[in-house]
Amino acid sequence: MTSSRKLHIGMSLAPTWLSGDAWRRGDSGVEGLFSPHYYVDIAQRSEAAKLDFVFRPDTLFLDAARLEDSPGFASLDPTILLAAIAGATSRIGLLSTVSTTFLPPYVIARQIQSLNALSNGRAGWNIVTALDGNENFGLSDMPSSDERYARAKESVEIVRRLWEGFPGDALKLDRETGRYADPAAIRAIDFDGRFYKVRGPLNMPDMAEDPIPLIQAGASPTGRAFAASIADAVFAASPDRDAAIELRADLRNLAEASGRSADKIRVLPGLSLYLAESRGEALELYMETHKRLNRGQKFAAVKACIGLDLTDWPNDRPVTAEDLPEEPATVKNRTMAGLLRRLIVRDSPTPDELLKRPEVIGSAHWQIIGTVEDAIEGIRDWHDAGAIDGFIAVPGGSVSSMHLTLHELVPRLAEAGLFRSDYSGTSFYSHLTEE
Ligand SMILES: Cc1cc2nc3c(=O)[nH]c(=O)nc-3n(C[C@H](O)[C@H](O)[C@H](O)COP(=O)(O)O)c2cc1C
Repeated sequence: MTSSRKLHIGMSLAPTWLSGDAWRRGDSGVEGLFSPHYYVDIAQRSEAAKLDFVFRPDTLFLDAARLEDSPGFASLDPTILLAAIAGATSRIGLLSTVSTTFLPPYVIARQIQSLNALSNGRAGWNIVTALDGNENFGLSDMPSSDERYARAKESVEIVRRLWEGFPGDALKLDRETGRYADPAAIRAIDFDGRFYKVRGPLNMPDMAEDPIPLIQAGASPTGRAFAASIADAVFAASPDRDAAIELRADLRNLAEASGRSADKIRVLPGLSLYLAESRGEALELYMETHKRLNRGQKFAAVKACIGLDLTDWPNDRPVTAEDLPEEPATVKNRTMAGLLRRLIVRDSPTPDELLKRPEVIGSAHWQIIGTVEDAIEGIRDWHDAGAIDGFIAVPGGSVSSMHLTLHELVPRLAEAGLFRSDYSGTSFYSHLTEE
């Protein structure tokens, strides 16, 4: 099953291009990381490239030790940041990340609806169940993945019902008669579930014409079923083409099984782009970025992910399916663990081979290291193979790699007929549903 439609492209505002030592480059602009201008600049460049959306991932905890040598995940609140970007852009979608594990649905509904009002219909919600941060919310343990998804399901239902419960046309604003609104058109939701009890209605109207897109991240079986039932798009971790084809086919089948058309769900893997004028320079950029990650840290990452300790493993002995420990009942990130286990079963890599893989050293995203031409070829290949509906760019290595993505790669994809050359609508939903 191929995808013949045009790509949908988002740009991550997480400064992946500053990771490793890249923030130390003279032109990195790292001083601006907590100012709006830094992100407004990238959002405006992304809008000039006609991207579907800019996207801010988010976590609600801080690993201060990681800040010793890189920016880590310390960041502005994503929805507030995107509200600042809303005022400096006019067409591009604004995708915020809000965790259903930690934030109450009433607050989520109001924040995202407010962003939608401030941006004239350009807000989107990236629904995450989060990986950590429980101790910042009075929870001694992180709830299991299944419980987090059960909560997410309730949360999404409540948020949607709150949005529907106060339609914009309930406002009458009739100066003549003095009738401000029709209270009968504003509905309470009286939700009483396992996790939440919410009366409603929401205290602000939905003034937009189009729905707010829902995006989901997390690809365990439970995560996939959840995404298939509600998401307009999925932010996926797909390090290789086969994994991407499998995920997209599965999500499309699951969407149909839950009564939706398969085309309603778009699969957008993260695409890590190390771009430079030549392949040699691009490879150097990649090596530079990861040079501080030592073997011990990589072994620790493998152990944390799948419970396999490779510290004393002979380097000429492949790691095979038989070496994999039983999957523990509680895994923080089943998506990452599944991808790493799959790689070992399929390739039986030696420790050296394993440690070079993005599943270990990076973020398990699809990776292209090379020139703009290499990237176009790679993207066309995945598109023609039915592996993707688009991608979320997470450029790495340097600011110039990020600029090459926006100023050269995306326009060239448009020239090749794989991407739009102009916007046809004004809302995030209209971009995402454009064929
Ligand atoms: C590609 C991807 C991106 C994610 N981004 C975030 C994020 O920005 N913030 C967050 O708290 N969790 C994030 N998560 C975690 C998921 O929301 C989820 O909690 C986790 O993957 C566990 O679900 P799973 O068992 O389905 O993998 C992400 C997961 C994936 C696979």
